[in-house]
Amino acid sequence: MAERFYVTTPIYYVNDVPHIGHAYTTIAADVIARWHRMNGRDVKFLTGTDEHGQKVARAAAKLGRTPQEHVDITVQRFQELWRTLHIQPDDFIRTTEARHRDIVRGFLQKLHDEGQLYRQPYSGWYSTSAERFWTEEEVAAAAWAALKEPAYPATEAVARLRAGELPGRCPDSGQAVEWLTEENWFFRMGDYRQRLLDWIVAHPACIQPDNRRNEVLGFLRKDLGDLCISRPAARLSWGIPLPFDEEYVTYVWFDALSNYVSALGPVGGPMHQRFWPADIHLVGKDILTFHTVYWFSMLMALGLEPPRQVYAHGWWTVKKEKMSKSVGNVMDPNKLVSVFGADAVRYFLLREIPFGYDGDYSHASAILRFNSDLVNDFSNLVHRVVKWADVPSSESAPLGEADAALLAVAERATATFRKELEALQFRQALEGLWELVRAGNKYVDTEAPWALAKAGNTARLREVLRALREVQRIVVSHLHCVSPITCSDVLARLGLSAPDLRVAFDVLPAAGVVAGAPLFMRIDAAAAMEVLDPSAAEPPPDPAPVPLAKEKPMSEVAELPANITYDDFAKVALRVGIVVAAEKHPNADRLLVLKVDIGEAQPRQIVAGIAKVYDPEVLVGKRIIVVANLAPAKLRGVESQGMLLAAGGSDVASLLAPIHDVAAGSIVK
Ligand code: MSP
Repeated sequence: MAERFYVTTPIYYVNDVPHIGHAYTTIAADVIARWHRMNGRDVKFLTGTDEHGQKVARAAAKLGRTPQEHVDITVQRFQELWRTLHIQPDDFIRTTEARHRDIVRGFLQKLHDEGQLYRQPYSGWYSTSAERFWTEEEVAAAAWAALKEPAYPATEAVARLRAGELPGRCPDSGQAVEWLTEENWFFRMGDYRQRLLDWIVAHPACIQPDNRRNEVLGFLRKDLGDLCISRPAARLSWGIPLPFDEEYVTYVWFDALSNYVSALGPVGGPMHQRFWPADIHLVGKDILTFHTVYWFSMLMALGLEPPRQVYAHGWWTVKKEKMSKSVGNVMDPNKLVSVFGADAVRYFLLREIPFGYDGDYSHASAILRFNSDLVNDFSNLVHRVVKWADVPSSESAPLGEADAALLAVAERATATFRKELEALQFRQALEGLWELVRAGNKYVDTEAPWALAKAGNTARLREVLRALREVQRIVVSHLHCVSPITCSDVLARLGLSAPDLRVAFDVLPAAGVVAGAPLFMRIDAAAAMEVLDPSAAEPPPDPAPVPLAKEKPMSEVAELPANITYDDFAKVALRVGIVVAAEKHPNADRLLVLKVDIGEAQPRQIVAGIAKVYDPEVLVGKRIIVVANLAPAKLRGVESQGMLLAAGGSDVASLLAPIHDVAAGSIVK
């Protein structure tokens, strides 16, 4: 039987309106699921919704619905969005389904029978608005923040809270909290501390990235308390009743986490045997502790193995702020799809920030990336090839030097894609594949099919077309998991009904290619902004088309000495800079004059030969790398106090930038 692969997303709160953060996790899971399916694995991709809790019951009551009626309606927002984004889960679990409830109750009964649960009074600061207890420190900090006093003397604040001099507040809503004592059921999680530590140390891949694993290990080195798993049904009615004490319902996390197992049917059944332990639980960094400490110990208590990996990705912000209804900055994926199309939204979210790191969403970057990567690079390559649809290619693979070089790029690019994608490094995978897209475009430039046709060199024209069509096939076959609709369209034009991942130039038949419209059309920034953000006063500038990367002539490489010493290299002071202003040079079309903050009292003025590649406005706010100890020089009458690093040699193709936001002035070495 084929190797199996089980990937999950968190189950989303059904009351929430889905935004790009929810879409991000689900797209990532869909891409990885599609990739493994395409490689012949037996895949199960699970997503779903978390539907219990007093907030849901309250929202339903407000609308005159029963909680079940309410969730049956709101769940559709997620299901519809996943359809819009071409997400194809194998299963969608809802915590209000009987199949889930029965398994959760079975788990609870088993733990109860084995003495792993106990009932005892619990006291704490309870917030009705957030439906949860907060620690003393959290309540004191929120209360102090409400006083709007600059300093926060933590010990004093806690003492005043205890003495009743500081009215406690909820960190979430800012509303008053009350001191509540009630009996509850607890799970002996504390007993599992050492086993958890041992497991995580022995299975380093089980929490990724590494820094997140270290966070969890740090958390576990402190004392680990027991976990409160219930709420009185009198207060929280919308939940799964405890099978051994009907006065209580299970509290959120015990209920929610169990979905990953309940979706496989009974423990020991065929689906469970085939798919448990899960290969990857994809989660945002916000819920890492729940998915490791709580979940792993629950599983251990139930005699089940922890998942092979929990991968915590970063957080999308908008204008550097957390998305929230009250700030009004919630980014609706449906709106982005209406402008860019689902395939481009999928591509953008995964290409823009390294998986694992935080990132800030901006329409300007989405438009820029759409126009550069999808229009200028990808769509352009496809278009330049399909227009020769009428000409059959050669029967066999071409063997010239340029053809072999292109095939070598294809081998390298696809190997990178495979390796990085399977390590969930989506950005690096796509960057790798784009090396082939750009090499394909360069091959069109240098092999010039139009010139071959004009000169009547049909034999070579056909060879060139074979190489290009195969490159197209290889690119879209790999990219298919990220942008499935567009890639299926290109495959169909090549006469294929499914991706074919072979990296060779003799796979396709010689004829039968169909032409078609361009895949992506350039987006006008101003028009797009009218749809995306009608309230924005100034539309962002229409970004300059990014020219195709040109490779450096070999002579530029060959002239450099080999084996320089570290001391030679260390003479160059490289710093991260942030462009604070940019304008055209008064006397030279090729040059821009930038002001770059490199952490000094004043920004540096740097003159750079990049005007053909970048519009000045696009650069403001961007991070770049600066040579900070180059002797000042005048360029066409304007002083330059440094130099920028760029790829492409004398034909600049791209400025270099750090892959995440480090401070201006940071040392680069
Ligand atoms: N219901 C719980 C999860 C239970 S899983 C057993 C929950 N739901 S949630 O609706 O709040 O979704 C949380 C998940 O949505 C995050 O872990 C992350 O995967 C995704 N995101 C929500 N906002 C996000 C961003 N701003 N950025 C990136 N992803 C985020 O917590």
